[in-house]
Amino acid sequence: MSNQDKNTGFSHDKIETSNFLMIVLILVVVAFGGLVEIVPLFYQKSTTEPIKGLEPYTPVQLAGRDIYIREGCYNCHSQMIRPFRAETLRYGHYSVAGEFVYDHPFQWGSKRTGPDLHRVGGKYSNEWQRIHLINPRDLVPESIMPAYPWLETAKVDAGSIGANMRALRAVGVPYTDEQIAGAADEVRNVSELDAVIEYLQVLGTHLK
Ligand code: HEC
Repeated sequence: MSNQDKNTGFSHDKIETSNFLMIVLILVVVAFGGLVEIVPLFYQKSTTEPIKGLEPYTPVQLAGRDIYIREGCYNCHSQMIRPFRAETLRYGHYSVAGEFVYDHPFQWGSKRTGPDLHRVGGKYSNEWQRIHLINPRDLVPESIMPAYPWLETAKVDAGSIGANMRALRAVGVPYTDEQIAGAADEVRNVSELDAVIEYLQVLGTHLK
């Protein structure tokens, strides 16, 4: 122990020999490091500003997105193309932060039992998506994706879509009063299947 330590009354030995103090100080350092990395992202424009041309989901697309979440599609499908050659060759342009600013919560996912869906919009026809969702094996015989036949007969819940949009507006999605007022009529009598397809067909299409 150096003289200097004695003079100031402080010794690193105190920290190194006390489990409790060591753990507390490590947590302080890690928390500080985390904040320094994470907090600036909230203020950095490239992560908080929508890309040019990004539109909020229409009521039908939004209803489809909720069904996507309800059915747990995210358990097998990510929506996040990483900037690696193997990914961009297969799925298209890598995902950028500004594409997700209206997604609450985002559907990036971390599990790929099936392919990434971030740029699946426009990849297949509506008819392909319809047949595939009712029974994937009709189009892809070796597919292990579950069938979702009930989506064809179930109707979108028109009663909750307005409240849903108001909640999204509260967190920054720029829906107008007119859009919210007209939403219930737009989704009334739309099948859940059509709503999911509308949602799938817009995914990843705003980036030019
Ligand atoms: C158990 C895992 C699993 C779940 C849950 C699942 N899928 Fe899939 N999905 C797959 C697999 C595996 C494939 C690849 C084979 C195929 O095309 O059927 C696939 C393929 C797809 C494709 C075609 C992608 C492409 O680029 O060819 C779409 C679109 C799709 N799924 C949408 C959905 C939707 C919407 C849901 C929820 C309603 C869903 N999936 C739920 C496993 C899953």
